[in-house]
Amino acid sequence: MERKVIITGDRPTGKLHLGHYFGSIVNRVKMQKDYETYILIADVQALTDNFNNPEKVRNNVKELALDYLASGIDPKYSHIYIQSMIPEVAELTVYFSNLVTVARLYRNPTTKFEVSQKENIFGSSGESITYGFLGYPVSQAADIVALDGDVVPVGDDQLPHIEQTREIVRKFNNVYGETLKEPDAVLSPNPRIKGLDGNDKMSKSLGNAIYLADTEEEITKKVMSAVTDPKKIKKDDPADPNVCMVYYYHKLIGNKNLDNVCTECKKGARGCVGCKKELINEMVNFLKPIQERRKYYEDHPEEVEQILKDGTEAARNKAKEVMNRVRKNMKLDYFE
Ligand code: TRP
Repeated sequence: MERKVIITGDRPTGKLHLGHYFGSIVNRVKMQKDYETYILIADVQALTDNFNNPEKVRNNVKELALDYLASGIDPKYSHIYIQSMIPEVAELTVYFSNLVTVARLYRNPTTKFEVSQKENIFGSSGESITYGFLGYPVSQAADIVALDGDVVPVGDDQLPHIEQTREIVRKFNNVYGETLKEPDAVLSPNPRIKGLDGNDKMSKSLGNAIYLADTEEEITKKVMSAVTDPKKIKKDDPADPNVCMVYYYHKLIGNKNLDNVCTECKKGARGCVGCKKELINEMVNFLKPIQERRKYYEDHPEEVEQILKDGTEAARNKAKEVMNRVRKNMKLDYFE
């Protein structure tokens, strides 16, 4: 039986942190053996709000590739590729742009939210939103559909984009005849990872992220300032682990001593400082194999480049086939 195709990826705008790792990467690592997996480094999409900072996008393409490989995305199973290297996707984006109204793009809840976050770029009236930014969900639809994607594992913020993709596909098939696959979104089991500061989400912009590449010193600094039960004042006060971010992270990274952490904390038999030190130790050990793999690939840049080349070639071959169907059904197949 043919394996189903996964398409997913990230914008290269910074290093990956534990929120990405537990929120989506672990799930991809698990799924990659059972699916034909394509993971894109969405540089074109990153440029929609970083068009004036190409250097940043370029550098982060490399960082993201290293983080993927370090996290266990295995080129034996997964094709890692660079979005801008697939011109067929740009072409499909143009054809798709006739099938979606500007009003519909403005209604996309994720776009709306992002506009509100970026008022400093776009102005509070939104007057200076670029065509490219407003249209990035169309380009994302092309990413998925150009490779015949069946399944798109994403976080909840991406659901509106997948819904928009499905609408575009239905419209396309309606107008030009059955041509394209309608993909399904699959929510990651654990899409939102809290920050050590107690914030609902770990994120770079909130400054509460632990990066996969963080050193022991950086981890120590961040964990030592983590939010614990505010009712616990003295070392031997009993406390509630369920409101403590240190406990949350003990659990997340799979501390084998978790039951003890919990009972000791509730009994007042565990001070927060000791508990944090244990977490630092656990975290350093947890990140060790990830960082060792990262180091290996940092030391073998030619191998990373080859992995990206191979991944891009595989994605491109797939996109070429799909685009032959697209052009034929759109009556754009002028020369054989
Ligand atoms: N929008 C995604 C993000 O912000 C990145 C992305 C681009 C993507 N194209 C995609 C995700 C296609 C899944 C499928 O991280």
